[in-house]
Amino acid sequence: MMRTPIIAGNWKMNTTLSDAVDLANGVSAQLPFVTGVTAVVCPPFVSLQAVADALITSDIKVGAQNVHFQPSGAFTGEVSAPMVQGLVSYVIVGHSERRLLFHEMDADVAKKAIVVAAHEMQPILCVGERLETRKAGEAEDTIRTQVRASLDGFEAWDKLVVAYEPVWAIGTGEAASPIVAQEIISVVRSELASLAGQNNADNIPILYGGSVTSENIGPFLDRPDIDGALVGGASLKADEFSRIIQVTASIAAS
Ligand code: PGA
Repeated sequence: MMRTPIIAGNWKMNTTLSDAVDLANGVSAQLPFVTGVTAVVCPPFVSLQAVADALITSDIKVGAQNVHFQPSGAFTGEVSAPMVQGLVSYVIVGHSERRLLFHEMDADVAKKAIVVAAHEMQPILCVGERLETRKAGEAEDTIRTQVRASLDGFEAWDKLVVAYEPVWAIGTGEAASPIVAQEIISVVRSELASLAGQNNADNIPILYGGSVTSENIGPFLDRPDIDGALVGGASLKADEFSRIIQVTASIAAS
């Protein structure tokens, strides 16, 4: 089984237009070639075109951080999948900040994943438990339910990417241990197998996210089910993000 690792940078609500272009240029200058790993940057919507233009000759792919599930309509302030089709290869759906701060439910996330795939892009579906849930010993059940409900009606298994991002590890500097991450990610894969069949599940990249740095990424990638990372804070520094990709490429080559 060969899954190409993915390192995706989620810039969140950071970078002005010129910052975004500088950051994209900074990363591509350090990584003129990317082999053995899929590198993705997800800038804010307003910078997507400029970043895509800056990376046109690079191997680095561009992703969006969200989309609405409707193709068009009276949804002030929203951006639809057809609007970003052709501009990005990936779209993050169901990030915990969308779920917790903007009240997105699993059912909304499922509709988003479906619409993204229907427009020839790859959804990066995020799931993750909160600290209270983990302390209550309910992490595994919660993740199973989230995976199932966030993929209700989804069938484009060849396009899916999943990211396990425990809420307590995001932006805290306290990454999950690689053992815990592997434990839950193997649960994600077994849930995917029950939805999509073992063959499809074996081909779906599953990433870890939450306080990933170039210093701590290695042991995650050594685990059998972890296929890369969704990186927040550390993706905002060209040097550090490039280093994460280089570490991943060298582990993938070994
Ligand atoms: P972090 O964010 O790397 O800053 O913890 C990860 C994410 O939210 O995707």
